[in-house]
Amino acid sequence: MDRVLTGDRPTGPLHIGHYVGSLANRVAMQDKYEQFVMVADVQALTDNYEYPQRIRSAVLDVLLDYLAVGIDPKKTTIFIQSCVPEIPELTMYYLNLVTVNRLGRNPTIKTEIKQKGFGESVPAGFLVYPVNQAADITIFKARYVPVGEDQLPLIEQANEIVRSFNRIYNTDLMLEAQGVISATARLPGVDGKAKMSKSLGNTIYLSDPAETVAKKVMGMYTDPDHVRVSDPGKIEGNTVFTYLDAFDSDKEKVAELKAHYQQGGLGDVTVKKYLAGVLENLLGPIRQRRAEYAKDPGEVMAMAQRGTERARSVAAHTMDQVRAVMHINY
Ligand code: TRP
Repeated sequence: MDRVLTGDRPTGPLHIGHYVGSLANRVAMQDKYEQFVMVADVQALTDNYEYPQRIRSAVLDVLLDYLAVGIDPKKTTIFIQSCVPEIPELTMYYLNLVTVNRLGRNPTIKTEIKQKGFGESVPAGFLVYPVNQAADITIFKARYVPVGEDQLPLIEQANEIVRSFNRIYNTDLMLEAQGVISATARLPGVDGKAKMSKSLGNTIYLSDPAETVAKKVMGMYTDPDHVRVSDPGKIEGNTVFTYLDAFDSDKEKVAELKAHYQQGGLGDVTVKKYLAGVLENLLGPIRQRRAEYAKDPGEVMAMAQRGTERARSVAAHTMDQVRAVMHINY
């Protein structure tokens, strides 16, 4: 069975954008592939090294979210990146195969350096995290890497490293991986802004209580020109309809609502209440399962530990092979 590897930086609980973008897909993939899902705390620390407690509590949040949406530890190897020391070991050897210039030209890193305002003081650990990510992917010999579009340059760079490694050490040990982009476009925040983010406060978390979800939906960005119920309204850029497209499986009903809204006579409050119901159908059971698991954090961590042991045994095996081809198998 082909291996799939994916993961998230734990910087807080996961939201409904993660659900449509990746989590739902992982639940489907775990029956078709040998799936590894990694909590990328090492990567999260590259720009949060001053806030280790934040990352620590987010690790548990992310694990709870995984279990709550139905990523099943019996089918998927769920593990914590910092508990697999073979990954930084491989990273160190990979670093010889990459130039500092090439790292600085990586479009994902360039954008992030701007966003995070590092200026001239880019931490070396941050600059090289794509190499660490190349090690994440290849140490498990993953064929497929489901990610957001912003991650494609990282996979490209990983594949360059794979080609260099195989050529220089005269081997076919490392596999190139293919990025798999989710069919659903990135979900905007409830304010209609392009991206959900904690700092913008425009995010619906999987762990939000029902009242919070309802409140966020009622405050959602719609069509600013749709003032009276009788006015015709716009669908494009109307977050409520974007969310209905993403979450309502009753496509006929959504088409009907859209037509009615465009024609006039359908109020924002009515559509929002409908959307709140659709979201609650999805989030209700997730919230309930999450609360169950949250009662026993020790058991959740033990589950991650079992996954990590399994991940480590795969990684250790690859490292034996790496040491052999690199003539460092003393
Ligand atoms: N870079 C990913 C993110 O920011 C997290 C990640 C780390 C990852 N290592 C990975 C994703 C390996 C896929 C494969 O969300």
